[in-house]
Amino acid sequence: MDKSNRHAFETRAIHAAQEPDPQTGAVVTPIVQASTFVQDGIGENRGYIYARAGNPTRDTVSKCIADLEGAEAGFVFPTGLSAAATILELLDAGAHVVAHGDLYGGIHRLLTQVRIRSAGFNVTFVDFSDTDAVRTATTKQTAMLWYETPSNPTLRIVDIAAISQIGREVGALTVCDNTFCSPYLQNPLALGADIVMHSATKFLCGHSDMMAGVACVASHVPAEITERLGFLQNSVGAVLSPVDSAQLLRSVKTLPVRMDRHSTNARAVAEHFAENRDRFGLSDVRYPGLPDHPGHEIAARQMRDFGAIVTICVNGGEERANEVLKRTSLFQFAVSLGGVESLIQHPASLTHKTIPEAERAAAGISGGMIRLSVGIEHVNDLIADLEEAFR
Ligand SMILES: Cc1ncc(COP(=O)(O)O)c(C=O)c1O
Repeated sequence: MDKSNRHAFETRAIHAAQEPDPQTGAVVTPIVQASTFVQDGIGENRGYIYARAGNPTRDTVSKCIADLEGAEAGFVFPTGLSAAATILELLDAGAHVVAHGDLYGGIHRLLTQVRIRSAGFNVTFVDFSDTDAVRTATTKQTAMLWYETPSNPTLRIVDIAAISQIGREVGALTVCDNTFCSPYLQNPLALGADIVMHSATKFLCGHSDMMAGVACVASHVPAEITERLGFLQNSVGAVLSPVDSAQLLRSVKTLPVRMDRHSTNARAVAEHFAENRDRFGLSDVRYPGLPDHPGHEIAARQMRDFGAIVTICVNGGEERANEVLKRTSLFQFAVSLGGVESLIQHPASLTHKTIPEAERAAAGISGGMIRLSVGIEHVNDLIADLEEAFR
């Protein structure tokens, strides 16, 4: 799609990088399953050689998502974690990484239980919602700053522009995990971030029926880094299959409609919790859209809406949390998030279990904490389900 004449996000979600198939006129991008492509002569091919290095269906979804993130280039991976692992391959052995204290547990595990051993990384964890703390933790030797906003599951808000500025000052790459927002709600590259990653398993896919990951690189990043990420993806072999690429491309077409409904429903659920805090026995209700959220102003500045995730803390710790989790029926007790169906889960025993208890406590992840991914069902049914569970 012609970047000089950009359409609105909703239009690009459906059309970016997509033309009717020149051979058949098919309106949707064909799934090209071939693992290898015929050569016309030595050094002569039609753009493709071998499917790990390049596949037309994968290329289309990569370009479409890159367009939505306002990126120079995009790469799609079989999972969010494989996208993260490949981005980390940009760093040399022994690199200093400053990472957000409350990262998704799987990325925390990748950094602390894999890359410290296999690549000798030196990782400093710090609360990225405290910009001064990030500045203090970062030195001229720091190679990468890695954060999520809103963070998982505590919904801390990171000032993307301020962190990007710190990265520029010390010459470190800044990586924003944009999973909780999707490109529809937040575009970190436009605020100066260098690389955006997604667990596309979540909102980009949106139906809890596939896994995928995304990495997008900003146009202000030197071309060698973008090229190197493509080289690394091919070198480690972490590529999304053609069928999954087509399914992801289809899902992205409805992203704006889903995200609007997710956000409206989540706001109503968060407000209901906040209004009934005492009756429900809650010690905390977190949603970036609530005016008393500590990051509300920054979130309002950098997000288009406030997203689907609501986190609460119940009085009575893990025991009471377990009762609530067992009593919802529309909110199904399962990990993951971002699907059309509502999910409810317990971070301390599931998504963040791999983080040592003391670090979990320091990040504010308590036994009474419950995370909800609010789906796109009718909001009255969702609220009735919660009323029943808390009765
Ligand atoms: C914020 C965030 N980043 C990354 C991941 C990892 O993605 P995946 O499960 O697709 O490997 C997750 C998974 O829950 C996540 O929530």
